[in-house]
Amino acid sequence: MPKLIVCGRGGCGKSTLVTLLAKALGERERVLVVDTDESNLGLCKMLGQEPPEMSLMVSLGGKPVVREKLLASMSQENGEKVGFFREDLSLEDLPPACVSWDGSVGNLRIGKIEHSMEGCACPMGSITRSLLKELKVNKNDWVIADTEAGIEHFGRGVLEGVDAILMVVDPSYESILLAEKAKGLAEEAHKKFFVVLNKVDEATEPTLRQELTDRKIEVGGVINHSLDISRANLVGNTLDVNMQRESVDELVDKIIGLCR
Ligand SMILES: Nc1ncnc2c1ncn2[C@@H]1O[C@H](COP(=O)(O)OP(=O)(O)OP(=O)(O)O)[C@@H](O)[C@H]1O
Ligand SMILES: [Mg+2]
Repeated sequence: MPKLIVCGRGGCGKSTLVTLLAKALGERERVLVVDTDESNLGLCKMLGQEPPEMSLMVSLGGKPVVREKLLASMSQENGEKVGFFREDLSLEDLPPACVSWDGSVGNLRIGKIEHSMEGCACPMGSITRSLLKELKVNKNDWVIADTEAGIEHFGRGVLEGVDAILMVVDPSYESILLAEKAKGLAEEAHKKFFVVLNKVDEATEPTLRQELTDRKIEVGGVINHSLDISRANLVGNTLDVNMQRESVDELVDKIIGLCR
C-alpha cells in the first residue's frame, strides 16, 4: 500500500521524477499520480496523458463550496482536519471523470488556480490531505503525489496519510538546506524520508553527496543531468523511462524495498 509524496525546492525536478517513477512502476503495477500543484500545468504532458475531465475540487462543488465547508468546520474541535472523503476510499471509488487512465498509470488533479482574486490555496491543501489520508491502496498499487515547491505541505499536514517522503535535491545549497529542514519535519511526523539527487554530473555529485552525508541524510537514488529530459520538457514532449533507464530502475527497487 505505498503512498509516496515527492517534494523539493522549485524547479528541482519533482514532476520529472514523479513521471519517470510512475512510468517505471506502471510497467509492473498500477499507479495513480496525484497532481497537488495548484499552479503548474505540465505534469500531464510529461506523462503523455490527457488531463482528467474534472479536478477533484470541481467534483466536490468548486472552491467556494469547499472553502465554506472548511470555514464551517473551523469552530469545531480539530476543524482544520475536515474530511472530504469516506474512510477506506479505494481507487475504484474515485469519480471516473477525475482520473485519466492510460494503461496502468492514472492521473488526478486536486485543482488549479483558475481566476484572479479567487483566494488562497488552503482548500486545495485540505482536499489533498484528506485524499491521501483516506485512500487505501492494494499491495500492488501505488499513489505518487507531486507537490508544489517548498515545504508548505508539511505544515498543512498533507503527509499525514503517506508512507514515505521522497525529496528531490538538485545541486544547490538551497536544496541542501531544504533537505535538512524537511528531514527534521519528516522525523517529527514519523515518516520515512529519503532524497534523490537530480540533475547532477560528475562534477557536482560528489560534493552534493558529501553535504548530505554530513547531515545524515539518506540518498535513495541519483538521476543525472540529461539533455534528453531537458529537451523533452522544453517542448512539452512525453518523458521516457529509457532516458534514464538504469537509474530509474535502481530507484524503483530501492523504493520498493523501503516501502514494503
Ligand atoms: N535530470 C534532469 N536533467 C535535465 N533537466 C532536468 C532534469 N530534471 C529536471 N530537469 C529540468 O528542470 C526543469 C524543472 O523540472 P520539473 O518541472 O520536473 O521541476 P519541478 O520541481 O516539478 O518544478 P516546480 O517546482 O515548478 O513544480 C525542467 O526544465 C526540466 O526539464
Ligand atoms: Mg512540478
